[in-house]
Amino acid sequence: MYSEKVMDHFTYPRNVGEIENPDGVGEVGNTVCGDVMKIFLRIKDDRIEDIKFKTFGCGAAIATSSMVTELVIGKTLQEAKEISNKTVAEALGGLPCQKMHCSNLAADALHAAIDDYHKKQKVSG
Ligand code: FES
Repeated sequence: MYSEKVMDHFTYPRNVGEIENPDGVGEVGNTVCGDVMKIFLRIKDDRIEDIKFKTFGCGAAIATSSMVTELVIGKTLQEAKEISNKTVAEALGGLPCQKMHCSNLAADALHAAIDDYHKKQKVSG
């Protein structure tokens, strides 16, 4: 079943919530189960200064969301982009096979939020 790390992040999720006037927002839905995750970013000097998430999903989705926020806080946008769904699952000590699709939400929502930030930058010049 779940690793200790998964259980820890599921029971005590880090960085849950919203950021007011975020610099980037990413929202993705899981096509397999219909669960949804939203990520909010505060960016300063090309670094992720703050990150929060809201997940309407299963325990594995909450744990992966929580883990991804811990992995990227303080990182540059380039470093954050390199985080994949696999990186997140590995950082959690693995996920049961039938739960691997749940890890897709976390990195995808992060990448969507970074893309949103870049789009906003272009618009504001
Ligand atoms: Fe939907 Fe896990 S069952 S994200």
